[in-house]
Amino acid sequence: MSEAGKSTLTLALSKGRILEDTLPLLAAAGIEPKDDPLKSRKLRFETNRPDLSMLVIRAADVPTFVEYGAADLGIAGKDVLMEHNGNGLYEPLDLGIASCKLMVAGKPDAIEQAGSRRLRVATKYMETTRRHFAAKGQQVELIKLYGSMELAPLVGLADLIVDLVDTGNTLKANGLVPLETIAEISSRLVVNKASMKMKAGAVKELLAIFEQATAK
Ligand code: ATP
Ligand code: PRP
Repeated sequence: MSEAGKSTLTLALSKGRILEDTLPLLAAAGIEPKDDPLKSRKLRFETNRPDLSMLVIRAADVPTFVEYGAADLGIAGKDVLMEHNGNGLYEPLDLGIASCKLMVAGKPDAIEQAGSRRLRVATKYMETTRRHFAAKGQQVELIKLYGSMELAPLVGLADLIVDLVDTGNTLKANGLVPLETIAEISSRLVVNKASMKMKAGAVKELLAIFEQATAK
C-alpha cells in the first residue's frame, strides 16, 4: 500500500519489438515512464503515477515474473504465453499490438520430400509445437533453435519450422511458404491471480484505463 492507502502496482513490459508498440499505448493511457526505456540501461522505471512502476525484461520472462508475483501485471505476446502454459495468471485483455501468426512453414514440397519419414521441425516454441502435432496425432522430431528458424530447411536441418509470420517477407526471402496457422498472435495484458484478489481496486482501475486506450 502507498501512503495514501492505495495499492501500488508493478507492470512488467516485454522489451524489444513489443516495447516499441507498448510505449504509445501507455502514453494513450496517460502513463509516462520517468526515463526512456528505449534508451536507459535501467530495468525498473518509476512513472508519472506514484502508484505504478514498471519493469522492462525479456519477453519470454514476463509470464514468470507475473506468475510468481514479482510483477502484478505484465504485457506479453500470446506466443510466449502459450509456450509458458502456466496457470498462475489471468489474461483479461487483448491489447491488439505486435500482431502476427504462429505458423508451420517449409519449402513448398517439404511434406512430399519427406515421404513416410518422420518430419523434423525446428522451432523455439517447443511446447506449443509438441502440443500442435500431438493434437493432430502426428509424430515429429523437434529441434530446438533460439532464432533464425527460417534457415533450418535451407541447410537440411529440418523439414519444417514453427515461427512467427507477419508480412511473410522473411519466409519469402528464404524460399519458404506458410503451410498451417497454429494461432493468431497479439500482445495480452496478464495479471497475477493473487494481485487480482488482493489489489482488486487498483488492478481493475488500470485494466479499465488499458481497455480505453486499446479502443482508441
Ligand atoms: P529475445 O530478444 O528476448 O530473445 P525475441 O527475439 O523473441 O526475444 P522480439 O523479436 O522482440 O523478441 O519479439 C517479441 C515478441 O514480439 C514475440 O514474442 C511476438 O509476440 C512479437 N513478434 C515477434 N515477431 C513479430 C513480427 N514479425 N510481427 C509482429 N509481432 C512480432
Ligand atoms: C520475427 C520472426 C520472423 C519474422 C517474421 O523475427 O521470428 O523471423 O519476425 O516477420 P515477417 O513475416 O514480417 O518477415 P524478428 O524480426 O523479431 O527477428 P528475431 O526473432 O530473429 O530477433
